Formats: sequence, C-alpha cells, structure tokens
Amino acid sequence: MTSRVQRPPAEERFAEELARLAEEDTGPRPPGWRLTLTSARTFVMGDVELGIAPKYVGNASLVERSLVTLATTRGLMLVGEPGTAKSLLSELIAAAVSGDSTLTIQGGAATTEDQIRYSWNYALLVAEGPSTRSMVPAPMMRGMAEGRVVRFEEVTRCPLEVQDTLLSLLSERVLAVPELSGDDAMVYAREGFNVIATANTRDRGVNEMSAALKRRFNFETVHPIADFDTEVELVRTESAALLRASGVAAEQDPAVSELLVTLFRDLRTGFTANGSPVERLSSVMSTAEAVSLAHATGIRGWFLRGDAGTVTDLAESLAGTATKDNSEDAARLRRYVEKVGSQRTSAAWQELRRAHARLTGP
Ligand SMILES: Nc1ncnc2c1ncn2[C@@H]1O[C@H](COP(=O)(O)OP(=O)(O)O)[C@@H](O)[C@H]1O
Ligand SMILES: [Mg+2]
Repeated sequence: MTSRVQRPPAEERFAEELARLAEEDTGPRPPGWRLTLTSARTFVMGDVELGIAPKYVGNASLVERSLVTLATTRGLMLVGEPGTAKSLLSELIAAAVSGDSTLTIQGGAATTEDQIRYSWNYALLVAEGPSTRSMVPAPMMRGMAEGRVVRFEEVTRCPLEVQDTLLSLLSERVLAVPELSGDDAMVYAREGFNVIATANTRDRGVNEMSAALKRRFNFETVHPIADFDTEVELVRTESAALLRASGVAAEQDPAVSELLVTLFRDLRTGFTANGSPVERLSSVMSTAEAVSLAHATGIRGWFLRGDAGTVTDLAESLAGTATKDNSEDAARLRRYVEKVGSQRTSAAWQELRRAHARLTGP
C-alpha cells in the first residue's frame, strides 16, 4: 500500500478547477499566462456559483492588484505578519498564472546564489566540461526559460548580496552563464516569467531589503482576517479538513474553534471584543497557528479517547503555541484566562479556566 502525499501543490489539489477555468475562459490573457486575470482571481477567491472553492479569505482587490503587478515587469512582494497566508496566496497565484507553484526558493541565512540561478552536476562537469547537460538549473533559471512565476519565500532572511542576485534578473530579464558560450551563455526570460516574493514584517532588521531591490517590486500588505465570524469559519473548515486527513472521524464542538479564535484575536490585538485592554503576547497569534491548534486539539481527543477534542485538550496544546519562545508569555496567558474567563460564563470558558489553572500550577 502506498501512502498519500501529505500536501500536494495547489495545481494538483485543485487540478479539476484549474482545467475547468482554463477551458471556459475565453477573454484575453496576459502573455504567457494559463488563465485570464479574472479567472485567476476567481480561482484564488472562489465562486460558489461556478463551483470554485474559496481559498484565500480576504480582500479581492489585493488579489487583483497582485495579479496586475505580475502581468507587468515588476515583481510582487507580499509582506505581513507570519501566518497571514502570504505563502498560500503566492502558491495559489503561481498555480493560477503558470499552472505550477513548485518553482520555489526558500530564503534563509544559508541561501546561496546557486539555489537561485544554477549549479553543476560535478561528475558531469569533470567528465565533459561545462555544458547545458552538466548544468543544474535552479528555480529562477527555470522560471525564466519556461516563462513561469517563481516564488521566493522569506526573501529578507537572505543575506543582502544574495538578494542582489535578483536585481539584474528582474531588470535585464536575462541570466548570464559565463561558463557557457554561444546561445547557451544567455538565458532570456520568456513571457509569463515573474517573481512573487514574501517577507515577514517580524523579520525586519534581520536583513533589510536593499533599496535597489525594493524599486523592482510592488508591495502588497497582507493583513490578518478582520472579521471575527469569517476567521472562526476559516479555522473551522481548515481544521476540519486537516482532521479528516488525519483520520479523525468525529466533528469538533464548534465552541472549541470559537473560543480559540476569541483568545487569539484578543491576544493578537491587545483588546477584547468589547474593548477592554489585555496584555499582548510576543508569540505570533496568527490564524495559521489557530488552525494548527484546532487540529492538535482534535488529534488529542481522537487518538487518546475517540472524541474530536475538548477545551481541556485545547488548553494542553495551547502552551506550546502561545508561549513558544518567551516564558513571560505563559504568565501573560494565565492572567488573560483568569481575567477574561471570570467575565465569561459559557461552559467553554469555565472549562478553559479550570484546565488552565491545573496546567500552570497555583
Ligand atoms: N486570509 C486567509 N485565508 C486563507 N487561509 C488563511 C488566511 N489566514 C490564515 N490562513 C491559514 O494559514 C495558512 C497559511 O499560512 P501561510 O501561508 O503559511 O502564512 P504566511 O506565509 O503568511 O506565514 C492557511 O493554510 C490557512 O490555514
Ligand atoms: Mg510564509
């Protein structure tokens, strides 16, 4: 028996939708695109009447502006707090525009030029010398040659000189390979090539982005979901899908996700819904973290007892999410649960108070 892939890329998960949109789509397409701009927007935002699932929850005009940018000669830079769906959005857009979201460079302190441009198969290089055969193209070279969108994740985590590799690629739209000669020495970008970069605002100061690079991108800020009910709904559907994939055959009590989202929003913004101030945590209280916590809650319930997780399970998992890298956060969280829980009478809040008191001691 072969096991399933944990998370296939968007173009596989939604292959049927993409094929249908491409077929029904008769308007003008930007050069090199698989879909029209409006169909790409529909793919990302969803359309109930057309049977296209909603995927990114947020501002349709942000998605529109992002797509317009990609049809120009400037790159697209998605910035925002961690867990606001920047990576998801870049994956969905790349799948819609190019039919491929896998040309991805993961930025980090150890990212090198080789991982952006090309490297060599050393056995072939030694045996035959430099040739297109001995060359191993990296995502940027492939994206240029194939006319596809390239994703550059967490670009500001790369050293500045590595970021600068992008400069000439984005402005000249050509990649020079000095080791080769003739036609092979220049890889010209084809229609459809562009770059979607993402950067976390929390990483500011790790490596600032160079001014020259900034000029080659249009920036879009991705915000956390503004509306409470919308966020609860997203956490519910996303965690339900994850739980099904994990083999959990029970429905989670809706009170769990509602409490979870309330708690995350209060601690993210520093205010409760009725405006009374609470201490913010230094940990990231993102929607993405809320989804994974609802998932963990269900896993605990199902594999320990056979239900879909309770508020007590949530409390057990909460410490590892909300108080990750700061011991002060544990105390803040406890004070929050005490303060807010004493004002809220629902069974879920009372259970959280009891569970939390037990977890963190007297
Ligand atoms: N606005 C949103 N729309 C859809 N999913 C969201 C949204 N905000 C958060 N999520 C959740 O977060 C996950 C994606 O987070 P990710 O793209 O990794 O964030 P980032 O790259 O900004 O850190 C999604 O799979 C989804 O569960
Ligand atoms: Mg990301």
